[in-house]
Amino acid sequence: MALYSEKVMDHFTNPRNVGEIENADGVGEVGNAKCGDIMKIYLKIDDNIITDVKFNTFGCGSAIASSSMATEMIKGKSIDEALEITNKAVVEALDGLPPHKIHCSVLAEEAVKAALKNYYDKNNIPYDKELFPDCDSCAHCADH
Ligand code: FES
Repeated sequence: MALYSEKVMDHFTNPRNVGEIENADGVGEVGNAKCGDIMKIYLKIDDNIITDVKFNTFGCGSAIASSSMATEMIKGKSIDEALEITNKAVVEALDGLPPHKIHCSVLAEEAVKAALKNYYDKNNIPYDKELFPDCDSCAHCADH
């Protein structure tokens, strides 16, 4: 069996939603301490719906494929629906990733969550901190 599924190869060679959104409503940037890769996600949110999403990454092929798929999965969804999308769902939608590449899909999930948290913070919208458990151990948002 090939190491990477056709879907991974498709999203890696032809990634969807690459770029930036000017005046985005939410921006999330996360990094993976182990591999040093960085992922940035921009969201446009209207009336609780994610109307547009773009991403940029200094990441490996699996990170590119995961973010491409994740952006496709959250586009047009409500914030609550987007928060429910886990890296596992992204990996399933990609028809799998090799075990040592699963952490790359975590980067995509974390960037989406960080962008949503940024939207909440910017607009003073109260939220359940439990939704963002990783943020406690990451000082990133405190920087801006
Ligand atoms: Fe770092 Fe894939 S190796 S995100």
